[in-house]
Amino acid sequence: MIEHTYIRGVGSYLPARVLTNEQLSETVDTSDEWIRARTGIMQRHIAAEGQNTSDLGYRAACEALDDAGMEAGDIDLIVVATSTPDLTFPSTATIIQERLGIRNGAAFDVQAVCTGFIYALTVADAMIRTGKNSNVLVIGAETFSRILDWNDRTTCVLFGDGAGAMVLSSTPSKAENAGKGIMNTFIRSDGRHKDLLYVDGGPSSTQTVGKLRMAGNQVFRHAVKELSDSMVQCAAGVDIAIPDIDWFVPHQANQRILEAVAKRLDLRRGQVVSTVAYHANTSAASIPLALDVAIRDGRIKRGHKIMLEAFGGGFTWGAALLDY
Ligand code: UT7
Repeated sequence: MIEHTYIRGVGSYLPARVLTNEQLSETVDTSDEWIRARTGIMQRHIAAEGQNTSDLGYRAACEALDDAGMEAGDIDLIVVATSTPDLTFPSTATIIQERLGIRNGAAFDVQAVCTGFIYALTVADAMIRTGKNSNVLVIGAETFSRILDWNDRTTCVLFGDGAGAMVLSSTPSKAENAGKGIMNTFIRSDGRHKDLLYVDGGPSSTQTVGKLRMAGNQVFRHAVKELSDSMVQCAAGVDIAIPDIDWFVPHQANQRILEAVAKRLDLRRGQVVSTVAYHANTSAASIPLALDVAIRDGRIKRGHKIMLEAFGGGFTWGAALLDY
């Protein structure tokens, strides 16, 4: 059993087109004021016509490989977290595998909606530590703009498109990083709440893709509680106290959720990485996107302890503690 899964590189990609609240309010009955006050969102990125989830994921993967100083050929597993795959099948992971020119190993998708990245990280960590794989590309990639009802103001203002990726490895890039990496992960779900956040279509039920539906208020309440609890449990599992953690990189759904969770755990405002104003909710992509921003702007450094957390449809939720 390998003791640690190392984080070798992180990358992300956002499509070029930006849709501001002002622009949205020209087509939907909403306002910049309402969206900012209730969510903290100012804008979102939207994939271009013909630009698919695999295109975003591929770009993020190339950035992460570059950051890791590794070649695509070094990768022996790709796990893609997405709820907006290019096709019902094959998996978006195999499409990205082909694009990267990888002929070895395996590739598959994981579907846990906004918690997808934490689930994918958990699977990748287990595959590395049990010796099944050596170098794993974990990608969160989404084009939620394709499953939104653009006439429903209660949901269409909340989401955006994007992708983030992480290269995980059984060996550290430098000797001084030995002993660092994924410290613990924690995942949970409760299917009794499946009707509070869902897509009203699918290949088996309606033979359509469907549109996103959400009872926002109820999702909000569950999210604040489960996010706080999962971080406490994830940290306690490895005897780390919440005040010993340097950074919190949450799923970016709503600034008010970030603040409510921070208050419950007594976190300092400056410790919580927030990109929701610029990216909106990019579902499984939101954590690696936010992490990449904070690494590249110099806030997060090697040796820092980072807590990731997410909540989404299902409900699903979870957390991951990293020694970066
Ligand atoms: O990533 C997965 C997890 N997802 C989440 O965590 C989302 C969780 N939920 C939320 O973030 C919030 O519940 C929302 C942002 C979705 C909604 O905020 P809220 O403070 O819970 O508002 P509300 O749903 O209670 O709606 C308040 C009012 C309603 O009007 P009435 O009934 O009071 O007259 C809505 O119709 O705001 C109205 N409203 C809007 N007004 C302008 C809802 N959406 C809009 C809008 N523009 N876009």
